[in-house]
Amino acid sequence: MEAKECILSRRSVRKFKDTPVDHDLLESIIEVSSYAPSWKHTQIVRYIAIEGELKDKIAKDCFAAWPRNGEITEKAPMLVALTVIKNRCAYERDGSFTTWRGDAWQMFDCGIACQTFALALHENGLGTVVLGIFDQDITSKYLEIPEDRELVALMAVGYPDETPNAPKRKPVSELLSYKA
Ligand SMILES: Cc1cc2nc3c(=O)[nH]c(=O)nc-3n(C[C@H](O)[C@H](O)[C@H](O)COP(=O)(O)O)c2cc1C
Repeated sequence: MEAKECILSRRSVRKFKDTPVDHDLLESIIEVSSYAPSWKHTQIVRYIAIEGELKDKIAKDCFAAWPRNGEITEKAPMLVALTVIKNRCAYERDGSFTTWRGDAWQMFDCGIACQTFALALHENGLGTVVLGIFDQDITSKYLEIPEDRELVALMAVGYPDETPNAPKRKPVSELLSYKA
């Protein structure tokens, strides 16, 4: 699949077939995702693939603020948690921040990794949707996220059982400006 086709045809998928996600395939996709750029090549993003009872428990207990995300998770064969290792990205060796942006660069790196992962999934016929609305405290507890990590986002993953239309994009004239 050409890069342009992959980018344009990727959609957020919220309905999945029951077919499980093969672990060897997932690992090959994570390897591709590892080629995402990162701050000083710190590579702080870690993925947790969640299936079975734990996934169902998260679906039931962690989306009270947005129950639709719980339904998506319940039906998806896999949930992937994106986590970051804290206190590495955007820090100097003496512990100070490299830039005025503080540690916000770690979210930037996680976002790049997230889209790289989504595109690599799509290229392999798998669909995903980023789930930003979830209870961070309960989900982190269920996943036993250690103190030195932060849970950033959840992604439902599976074979698509829908072909959503692309939501309309803003025109380039609004997105891009030039200066000289
Ligand atoms: C950071 C982030 C958080 C999101 N959170 C949710 C969410 O909680 N639930 C959901 O159904 N979609 C969520 N989405 C998906 C967006 O709604 C979707 O990307 C957008 O509508 C554009 O559609 P497309 O991905 O098909 O191009 C999220 C996307 C991003 C990037």
